[in-house]
Amino acid sequence: MFSEKYAPVMLSQIIGNESAVSMLMNFAEKIHKGEKTKPIILVGPSGTGKTSAARALAYGNSFELLETTASDYRDAETLNRTIIPAGSSRGLFGKTTVILMDEIDELSKKYDTGVERAVDKFLKSTKQPVIFTAEDYWDPSIRFLRGAVERIEFKKVSHDVIFAFLKKIADKEGIGIEKELLDMLAKRSNGDVRGALNDLEAILGADKELIENIGIRDTKMEIFGVLDKIFTSVNFDISRNAVMKSSVDTDMLLNWVDENIPVRYSSKMSRRDAYYNLAKASRFSAKANRTNYWGYLRYSSVLMSSGVAVSNDGYVKLLRQYSFPSKIRHMSNTKENRYAMNEIADKLGERLHTSKKKVIRDYLPLMKRIFESEINKLGEKEALEKIKTGYGLEAEDIEFILSS
Ligand SMILES: Nc1ncnc2c1ncn2[C@@H]1O[C@H](COP(=O)(O)OP(=O)(O)O)[C@@H](O)[C@H]1O
Ligand SMILES: [Mg+2]
Repeated sequence: MFSEKYAPVMLSQIIGNESAVSMLMNFAEKIHKGEKTKPIILVGPSGTGKTSAARALAYGNSFELLETTASDYRDAETLNRTIIPAGSSRGLFGKTTVILMDEIDELSKKYDTGVERAVDKFLKSTKQPVIFTAEDYWDPSIRFLRGAVERIEFKKVSHDVIFAFLKKIADKEGIGIEKELLDMLAKRSNGDVRGALNDLEAILGADKELIENIGIRDTKMEIFGVLDKIFTSVNFDISRNAVMKSSVDTDMLLNWVDENIPVRYSSKMSRRDAYYNLAKASRFSAKANRTNYWGYLRYSSVLMSSGVAVSNDGYVKLLRQYSFPSKIRHMSNTKENRYAMNEIADKLGERLHTSKKKVIRDYLPLMKRIFESEINKLGEKEALEKIKTGYGLEAEDIEFILSS
């Protein structure tokens, strides 16, 4: 994943959030000097670098790191067993151990009264530097911490900074990518670096060839914007207008919506209603194609946008990454297959003095049988040599025929 691959390993690699980074550098400086540090709490929205900054502080300064996460806050016993000893010991080879208590505001959801006391006790006894993170500093469940910690604020990262970051990564990945597309991703991220990286990966990471094949880049990823409107607004007009105003091809959109209903909607009811409307949309599209009366497309486009939007019963998963329609993926795969098949048929057609069509229909299945029996008889290596020279085929052609 890009968010792991490009996670910062030093504080200087954290983008945006300059003042937070400089406060963290001071914190590290103090530790190096052997001064006692007041525990800190990094607060701010998700995906802005709180956890990565805490880790980078440790890695970049060669400190040990002990991390606890939300699941550790269920019971005091786990905490007492892990953090208390870590805090009071000198660390491996006398090294400093940074103790990171990530997402401490999750404590409220896993409440066990003993946990609060365990953290309190730990803070009183620790000799090691402590970093908390939380999204919400004012969460009542961490009220007990407020007097004991110094607060460092993380903010949403600005559009320009995210834009430049995405550009750098796209360059590193060796992918030329239009400015408009990067701009769109940066806007869409709304300051969330993790989200931006996930989106970038969704477009480039997995299927470079696919993007070339289906010309997805031409749509400038407008499709994400349209999907957002469909899946996150329950508003009839907003979702309809998003489709009307965009240049996204509705057949393509239908596949995207289809693939992402279960990604976005979690309740049975909203999924059922959304699919019901999508099915109707699909029928109108088919009818338009069949009858050449394009007026039907009006209904299909409303049904696949507003029809799906109003099916949402209020609970939307805040997953940013849309999954790629398997249908489009499949089309692109079969396209490759067709190319390969054509090439082979061309070669063989010449040799056999017959049409491509005939080669594909009559000869290839036959050859497959022959190749298989040769391999059984002679063993793979020898059989392949024989077939190569005998038929004038490359190894990959033979493989293709065998797998078809
Ligand atoms: N400010 C940032 N600078 C560089 N990368 C970031 C930043 N914020 C987030 N990221 C990327 O997003 C991923 C998730 O960030 P994370 O630190 O876990 O966010 P948070 O803890 O604030 O929710 C990181 O692994 C990193 O790749
Ligand atoms: Mg985090």
